[in-house]
Amino acid sequence: MKRLISLLLVLALAGSFAGCGKKADEKADENLIGVAMPTQSLQRWNQDGANMKMMLEEKGYKVDLQYANNDVNTQIQQLENMITKKCKILVIASIDGSALTEVLRKAAENDIKVIAYDRLLMNSEHVDYYATFDNFKVGVIQGQYIEEKLGLKENPGPFNIELFAGSPDDNNALFFNGGAMSILQPYIDEGKLVVPSGQTEFSIIAIHAWNSATAQARMDNLITAHYADGKKLDAVLSPNDSLAIGIITSLTNAGYGTPEKPYPIITGQDCDKANVKAMIKGQQSMSIFKDTRTLAAKVVEMVEAIMKGEEAPVNDTETYYNGVKLVPSYLCEPVYADINNYKELLIDSGYYTEEDLQI
Ligand code: BGC
Repeated sequence: MKRLISLLLVLALAGSFAGCGKKADEKADENLIGVAMPTQSLQRWNQDGANMKMMLEEKGYKVDLQYANNDVNTQIQQLENMITKKCKILVIASIDGSALTEVLRKAAENDIKVIAYDRLLMNSEHVDYYATFDNFKVGVIQGQYIEEKLGLKENPGPFNIELFAGSPDDNNALFFNGGAMSILQPYIDEGKLVVPSGQTEFSIIAIHAWNSATAQARMDNLITAHYADGKKLDAVLSPNDSLAIGIITSLTNAGYGTPEKPYPIITGQDCDKANVKAMIKGQQSMSIFKDTRTLAAKVVEMVEAIMKGEEAPVNDTETYYNGVKLVPSYLCEPVYADINNYKELLIDSGYYTEEDLQI
């Protein structure tokens, strides 16, 4: 009997210690949100991370914000840490959307919900929501800008264009390209638009890791191989600003930017400060403006709904198939900025100050 009582006592004590520990643990972690961003090397992700952290903290959440230096393994480790720390929700802007299947499985095993941020997470059923801008539309707007500035509807042409695409491990890159080509391909088929390099395949025009230097090197090669004879280059389809910077550097080095040899139409995306300055200097023609404040605010709404056990707001359930499931998505609206509207869009809205854009 004595032994039984002491055993019961020990058990009761152990139980209450475990209970204490758990309570303290739960308290510490009960509103921790993990935010995994790909890299600090591009302006936009710094803004995305900072906005998310600020807005979540304003709502009383704790935030574990990590940048992975564009290294997939670093991002996996960071996510594993977040799971160990018992984050309630993971918000992930991936580097390689297909490389996280295993760590997402671990998150699900630990009842952690997952929101794909800006880039879709592929090959996993454990992606609860996706918040992004309408990526196909981004490409459509870039294509339409080229169509309008070259007057493709009314002019017989032909006009020369070179095509670039984003990183092949980023699902967005395919959507941007698909959107732009939905506008440009008919003109190529008709012969109004000519690609002198003949390079139109996604796999050939894609720039790994959205790297500026790689884009610059490819543009150098295109100029040497296809434009050395003085052939006019009328437009370059660049899916984003980091590629546009490399393309502009290459063109400038090759003597573009003079009255005899003006810059072609060059598209972009993100409205990075350096690129808006390039627009002001007449080097880049346009950039898609994706207000990161809007995206962050939407993700915060999603986080709040999930924490309350409610459905998060979505406006698209048909577009983003990740290889396993259609991920319920919220698509924000992209618009374009160019020399004519950038002040209103970027300065009047408080996104940048005048000093930010001083050249
Ligand atoms: C984003 C773009 C960005 C690119 C490179 C894409 O997934 O949607 O806004 O320019 O990645 O970071």
